[in-house]
Amino acid sequence: MKIIAFAGSNSDVSINRQLVTFASSFFEKHLIEILDLNDYEMPIYKNEREIENGIPQLAHDFAAKIDSADLLLLSLAENNGAYSAAFKNIFDWVSRIRGRKVFGEKPMFLMATSPGKRGGASVLEIASKRFPFDGAKVLETFSLPSFNENFDSGKGIVDDEKLKEIKEKIDQIKSNF
Ligand SMILES: Cc1cc2nc3c(=O)[nH]c(=O)nc-3n(C[C@H](O)[C@H](O)[C@H](O)COP(=O)(O)O)c2cc1C
Repeated sequence: MKIIAFAGSNSDVSINRQLVTFASSFFEKHLIEILDLNDYEMPIYKNEREIENGIPQLAHDFAAKIDSADLLLLSLAENNGAYSAAFKNIFDWVSRIRGRKVFGEKPMFLMATSPGKRGGASVLEIASKRFPFDGAKVLETFSLPSFNENFDSGKGIVDDEKLKEIKEKIDQIKSNF
């Protein structure tokens, strides 16, 4: 199985990239590719840009990565209660590809983390309601609150309850394949 994993963040030290990388480590027997949104940076979506220049090649490249996956792992950064601008811009451009649903009817494990106590709960709620309309089959969701207390860069999730929860959810996801 091919897994495409990425964070909804363009931070070079993204905590969501750390979480999604940790989650991917449980899929030992599978081919994992971790994307960096910085590799898909495009001008901010603007209708006139699309009319003048078409959809950037990078949006097609991102869509091709999604299409190559059997499973998507995505952990969203929360900015002011919603998607980061970096993620939303890619999302908007890819959604303009004719006849396409952004997530290509792929199964997804949808996550979020933040340094705050709500662990990105707002963006997770927005995305879990919205993404099914964008062709994501959201199999499970997971939020890690208080990242700095609950995650160690060497060990991963250090809160017992949260570790148990993510492992159970990953086992459930694996049972779909
Ligand atoms: C503009 C901005 C808005 C933010 N808004 C929120 C927020 O609404 N909720 C939250 O939990 N954290 C918020 N944060 C803190 C982010 O969760 C934190 O920067 C986190 O590291 C982002 O994830 P990343 O490291 O994967 O990019 C915000 C940060 C920035 C820069």
